[in-house]
This record gives sequence, C-alpha cells and structure tokens, in this order.
Amino acid sequence: MSDGTNDRPLGIALIGAGAVSEYHHVPAIRLDSRTRLVAACDTSQALLEKRRDEWNLDLISTDYQAICDSPDVDAVVIATPNDTHRPLALAAAAAGKHIMCEKPLGLDADEVRQMYEACRDAQVVHMTAFTYRFPPAMRYLRSLVSSGALGTPRHFRSQRFLDLPETSWGWRQYKSKAGAGDLFDMTIHRIDFAIDLMGPIKSVCGAVAQFAPRDLTADGKPCPPSEVDDWSSLIGEFESGAVGVWEGTTLAKGYGMNGFGHEWAEVNGSEGSAVYRMHDPNNILIGKTGQDLASQPAPEEFLKPTNSPRDPSQGEPATVFRYDLMWEFVSAIVEKRQAIPSFYDGWRAQIVADSVLSSYNERRWIDIPAAPL
Ligand SMILES: NC(=O)c1ccc[n+]([C@@H]2O[C@H](COP(=O)([O-])OP(=O)(O)OC[C@H]3O[C@@H](n4cnc5c(N)ncnc54)[C@H](O)[C@@H]3O)[C@@H](O)[C@H]2O)c1
Repeated sequence: MSDGTNDRPLGIALIGAGAVSEYHHVPAIRLDSRTRLVAACDTSQALLEKRRDEWNLDLISTDYQAICDSPDVDAVVIATPNDTHRPLALAAAAAGKHIMCEKPLGLDADEVRQMYEACRDAQVVHMTAFTYRFPPAMRYLRSLVSSGALGTPRHFRSQRFLDLPETSWGWRQYKSKAGAGDLFDMTIHRIDFAIDLMGPIKSVCGAVAQFAPRDLTADGKPCPPSEVDDWSSLIGEFESGAVGVWEGTTLAKGYGMNGFGHEWAEVNGSEGSAVYRMHDPNNILIGKTGQDLASQPAPEEFLKPTNSPRDPSQGEPATVFRYDLMWEFVSAIVEKRQAIPSFYDGWRAQIVADSVLSSYNERRWIDIPAAPL
C-alpha cells in the first residue's frame, strides 16, 4: 500500500459518486499531488459511467467489496446515504483502507461506536467530514478561545438558517436512511465544532419539529411524506460551566444568501466576543466591552492548512475551504498520525445529537456520559 511518500501517489476511491463527492471531494483530490482519484463505487451504474469520463477513473464498480479488494486503493471516502456508512466503513476497515466518512457517521451512536472501534483496531486513519471545522474564521476563532484572548468562555451560540424548497429531500427525509433531518444533517456539525471550541458537553435539553410535509418531488410527482425534522434546537451545559444554544432550520424564508444561507457561531467570553459566519469565512467579527462587533480579516496563517498548495485568493471563499478536509485526511495518512476530526469526534457528536432526540421525546434534560475511551 502507498502512503503517498513512496512509489506512487496515494490511491483514493469515492464510495458514493453524488453531490458532495462532486462538490467537495473531487476538486480537493485534484489539488493534492500526493494523491490520485483511482476508483468510484455507486449503486447507479449510469452515474458511474458518467463519472468514469468526467473524473478519469481507472476502476468503477457497483460492488463496494471490489473497491475494498483493489490493491490500487489505499483510502476511501464514504459519501453515501447515512444508513450505508456503517457497513461500508466496516468493510473498508477490514480491508485495511484509510477512511474519511461523511457525517453523520451513522444512524445512532451505537453504529458509530462500532465504526470507531473497527478503525481503531485495524489501525487505519479515520476522519469524520465535519466540514465547518475548516473555514479560516472558525480556525481563528478556535485559536482566540484556546489562547484566552476572549477571556473565560461563557456562552456559545449557533444559528444555521437555510431557505430550502419545501419539496422532497429524497433519501434525506426518511428515518431508515437518514436517522433524523436538520438535526443530523446540519446541527450535528455545530455540535461538533462547539465541543471543539468549548470542550465536552455535560447536559442537553433539545427539541425538533417538522413543518413541511415534502410529499411532492421538485417536478411535482407525489412521494411518501417526510418523517424527519426540519427545525432542530438544543440548549446545553459544557463541563467547563459555559452554556450553549443552537438553532437550525431549513425553512427560514428570506435567508437564501446566494445559496449559502445564514450561519452565525459565536463565543462570548469574559473579555470579548467573536463570531464566525460561513458566508464570509475569511473574516471574523470581534468585539470587547464598550465596542461594537467589527469585522477583521483572519490572519494569513489561518487561511489554509500549512503547506497546502491551495491559493486562498482563488475561488468562492464559502466553497474552497471545503477542500481543506482532504488535505487533512491525506496529511494524516502521509504523516502516520490520526486525522482531526476523527471517528471519535463523530461518535461524541452523535451521542449529543441522539440525546437531543431522547430529551425531546422524554421531555427532560439528558446528561451526556463522560468521554468514553
Ligand atoms: N460534510 C458536508 O458538508 C456534507 C455536505 C453534503 C452531504 N454530506 C453527507 O454526504 C453524504 C452523501 O450526501 P450527498 O448529498 O452526496 O447525497 P447524494 O444523494 O447526492 O449522493 C449519494 C450517492 O450515493 C449513492 N449510493 C446510495 N447507496 C449506495 C451504496 N450502498 N453504495 C454506493 N453508493 C451508494 C447514490 O446512488 C448517490 O449517487 C450524506 O451522508 C450527507 O449527509 C455532507
């Protein structure tokens, strides 16, 4: 197997050749000379044939085991509906392949625990595709919090408001395929970066709601109605004593913002406040007592990962930071270290997301177990 430092570039296979593979992962692989896209797997043969030409693939297959068995594949990216992540990850780990898997890693925390343990035991690199750890302003916010520049962190606040059509979400609106709606699709990212910024979450009280029936496809054909939430929220207490509040919705009329929607993630500390906004990811809002929040550019060293060939002045800023996930995954393989965020982080976030649903169903606060090993 290549580790990207010897005879040939690291061979990557995409399992799932749909939207996120095309938008995030393929451009990212193309930027990185340490790696090469060699194969793709999808259940749609027609899509695979189209991708073979578009992506210049050596191997396409509808059989994931054929991808896992290929000696040309060193690592896989799992970018399929959520219910397939666990079996695909277990097969790839058993074959000794490094794995980046899309979020949510599974349908519940028990599935995710199995995935984490399989990768840990197989000693492969495992990474959760928590994209919003990577915007420059988020990376800078993390350094402001950890250096103490904002003082003692007191409040965390996350808003993610999208104005999506009220037609079918496809597989995303069925519990057996997706697990949950906005909570597992959008809010789970914000649970992850809250833990990264503020430390472990001790306790949560959550609620979800569904407003849109989504019983028509975009072209007006009837389909089984949505079974999942399109609004999700939680309040939480961190082990540090800080508190947090999160709200996400796909039904915020007027929040299109060129397709990127509204995102606001804020830390209020004893000395100052700072805010990351996804539509303006190279700038951060900062304020201290007596001032109003004001925009500042994220310093140069936060604009891209160290040594990455990506030119931060090129492309749409709210798109191009997504390529930095692949840089981290490949760097972890080449440097023989664990990736950040790992499946362990995916598991911690899943435990909290599951607890939001339990809290709502049982109408009570839920304590989050201390970090398992
Ligand atoms: N990190 C992010 O910011 C981000 C953004 C979008 C999507 N996602 C995640 O990525 C995953 C895929 O989302 P998407 O928007 O690309 O979906 P999609 O529906 O566009 O693509 C999924 C593809 O997987 C294929 N597929 C289904 N079952 C399969 C199987 N068993 N084996 C192989 N291929 C299979 C489908 O044919 C389809 O082409 C989801 O888990 C989603 O939550 C993450």
